Amino acid sequence: MQHELTVSIARGGLSVGECDGQGARLLHVRLGEQPRLKAALAQRWQTGGKEKESKAAGGHMEDGNIASPDMIVTVQQHIAQQQEALYPGAKGTFSWLLSGITLATKMIQAQIRRAGLLGIAGSAGASNVQGETQQKLDVYANEALLHCLGVRDAVAVLVSEENEEPVTFDRAPETGKYVVIFDPLDGSSNIDVNVSVGTIFSIFLRPEKTSDVPNAAALQLGSKQVAAGYVVYGPSTMFVYTAGNGVFGFTLDPNIGAFVLSHDKMRMPAQGQYYSVNEANAEGFPAKYQTYLSQLRSGGLGHEYSSRYIGSLVADFHRTLLKGGVFLYPPTVTHPGGKLRLLYEANPLAFLAEQAGGMATDGRGRILDIQPEGIHQRTSLVIGSRVEMEAFGRIE
Ligand code: F6P
Repeated sequence: MQHELTVSIARGGLSVGECDGQGARLLHVRLGEQPRLKAALAQRWQTGGKEKESKAAGGHMEDGNIASPDMIVTVQQHIAQQQEALYPGAKGTFSWLLSGITLATKMIQAQIRRAGLLGIAGSAGASNVQGETQQKLDVYANEALLHCLGVRDAVAVLVSEENEEPVTFDRAPETGKYVVIFDPLDGSSNIDVNVSVGTIFSIFLRPEKTSDVPNAAALQLGSKQVAAGYVVYGPSTMFVYTAGNGVFGFTLDPNIGAFVLSHDKMRMPAQGQYYSVNEANAEGFPAKYQTYLSQLRSGGLGHEYSSRYIGSLVADFHRTLLKGGVFLYPPTVTHPGGKLRLLYEANPLAFLAEQAGGMATDGRGRILDIQPEGIHQRTSLVIGSRVEMEAFGRIE
């Protein structure tokens, strides 16, 4: 099927006409006062970008002939704008890298939406490197991310929850600049019961002095992340990310197949109503955590807290980001060092929490200051709103 685009810079924005054989669509995106971005876009479309440009009959728009008042910002446009504003002259490598994640997560959500019909819910009959039962969708999600990211030449190293060792690519340091770490499908046992799950990712620059040990590129302090985010597959599919300049949320519009900006400059409320913890483990929690939980329950922070626990970290964190409160996975009898994984669970969510005005610790210090020693290292995690986190920090 022929797919044709016409593009013009007009009326303070970028107009895109798209014709794919099933119909034509018009889109006008206001660029505001961003002359550099306008110039860069104008040049890109004049000189030919990755997309095909043509002026086919029926798809061409003349200046001033804008039919649709719709103004949306897709995740790709947003990342490009942010990069251009922060790093003038950015070549688009980072946006191209992130488009690997958005593409893979769209593929994953399409499978999740039909899981009950395709017979792909349930166990794949194997265990992953964590000794946890692998779900069929874990395998699919991992392959989708490995493929969509692996073909982007900016990627040097991929680390996945599902792979014991990092996957490395023989790319020159000038090209293969990034290390991407991900949990392809977090909380996947919840799929069988039609409850929200998610994908989490964390991105680092490949260290300048690269050693031959691929693990070394991934064992960086969380504070060095250049971007992090997650996709929550809930009633709607949402992509939430930070590149160190605030947190932004996008909702997948299934009609156009694009993540559209729906939550601009997200801030975690300073205090919330809920705490979130697996209370079945409470008797084994260290005393500090037990004191804290009874303080929350008894109104010690101004009101009596209610509890919410889904058992999908992404979903529990997403609620905490939007509504405030605190999520805890303390040390337990079976996991005295904590259960959650530092590199692809705690680190990316800690980066997002801090960027949204919240905090994250392992019970002793800031998550982002932990020097990782192994790619599948576990940690305890307390993450949430400023008021709850400061109260936790005051308990001896
Ligand atoms: O780490 C995987 C995970 O499923 C998280 O998504 C979730 O927060 C946690 O484990 C749930 O663990 P538990 O079942 O022990 O409460």
